[in-house]
Amino acid sequence: MSVRLDLAPYQTGSMRLWLYIVEEFSIWSIFDPIFLKLRRGVNIMDAIQTNDTDAIIEMDRARVWHHLIQHKPLETIDPRIMVEGKGMKLWDARGKEFLDAVSGGVWTVNVGYGRERIADAVRDQLVKLNYFAQSAGSIPGSIFSQMLIDKMPGLSRVYYSNSGSEANEKVFKLVRQISHKKYDGKKYKILYRDRDYHGTTITTLAAGGQDERSVHYGPFTPGFVRIPHCLEYRNQFDSDKDYGAQVVAATEEIILREGPETIGAFCLEPITAGGGIITPPEGYWEGMSALCRKYNILMHIDEVVCGIGRTGKWFGYQHYDIQPDFVTMAKGLASGYAAISCMVTTEEVFEMFKDDASDPMNYFRDISTFGGCTAGPTAGIENIKIIEEEGLLENCIAMGDYCMGLLHA
Ligand SMILES: Cc1ncc(COP(=O)(O)O)c(C=O)c1O
Repeated sequence: MSVRLDLAPYQTGSMRLWLYIVEEFSIWSIFDPIFLKLRRGVNIMDAIQTNDTDAIIEMDRARVWHHLIQHKPLETIDPRIMVEGKGMKLWDARGKEFLDAVSGGVWTVNVGYGRERIADAVRDQLVKLNYFAQSAGSIPGSIFSQMLIDKMPGLSRVYYSNSGSEANEKVFKLVRQISHKKYDGKKYKILYRDRDYHGTTITTLAAGGQDERSVHYGPFTPGFVRIPHCLEYRNQFDSDKDYGAQVVAATEEIILREGPETIGAFCLEPITAGGGIITPPEGYWEGMSALCRKYNILMHIDEVVCGIGRTGKWFGYQHYDIQPDFVTMAKGLASGYAAISCMVTTEEVFEMFKDDASDPMNYFRDISTFGGCTAGPTAGIENIKIIEEEGLLENCIAMGDYCMGLLHA
């Protein structure tokens, strides 16, 4: 038996029943794990029509491949199915209540669950215009880009896509194209940091500083070079004096070893998130910015986690003395109410891609189909308004101070 949930929206009740009967008695049914479970009393039609909890759990166990977990334990324990959220609270299919201290597990739901005004705005936009390719613009796309740029002095252009990995790949492509335009293809390398994470695609894994994520998925895209982390707690040097300056000096050694004329960009998280919440040591960002100026290296800051208020400022880099050339963001950008990511850059970078309109190759030859979904920027607009109206940046700082106080008590 195969569960045709994918077709369900297009089927009439009688069609669904017909499919159900045909599939119920298919010879293959007897080998199917969900068939065996469902034979023991759980009815698939009930599950579809009434969300029967046992049937939902069995379908999940039999059909869904969850992210980032080993599935063997799920043969004996139930997979967790989340069903409802309100504010910071969540409930699973068995009715168990959780206090969600991790914003949807991976730092995403910045403004909390159950925000009707975001859902309403997205619904209204979807019935007006859900999609058109981003080679054209949209009303929410224009407004949201202006709202972002207002919060990012020195930056001026927003490129829409639909995941953090994808936004980072946009920067990698731009750095490579700039290398071809200006440096005969030679300034193509991208330096990434030990313990940082930038995504799940083969190329973002090439830029990934967490080996558990990348081992066995190679070979990777060439041209990515690892530099040391800045985690003072796990000192990499003989002395711990001026730790930030020591990391910068070790990074400069790598630049000189590789040849500064080959280095196009740094790709760095402002505060390393998945790699252990690593706040930078004193002097680190000043030193890294100085390296950019000295060796003509572009600075790409990955704000996929830290962006849109998570650290008490709109962006994590705004805590430090950094003027980025590229900023990428996703996750909390629309608090998970829609899938959206952005790559934001300077007018200087943007200009490079239109300086010679007679050259048919002289533009950013890139597209992200779902970058044209209007739900993302619509949700993003409401998300920013909520953060502003409810003072969530200030709340973030107050709660951070409170938790820090408790840790030090
Ligand atoms: C810092 C950082 N960059 C990029 C990504 C990749 O984002 P996505 O999973 O949306 O591709 C993540 C995901 O956890 C992240 O933590």
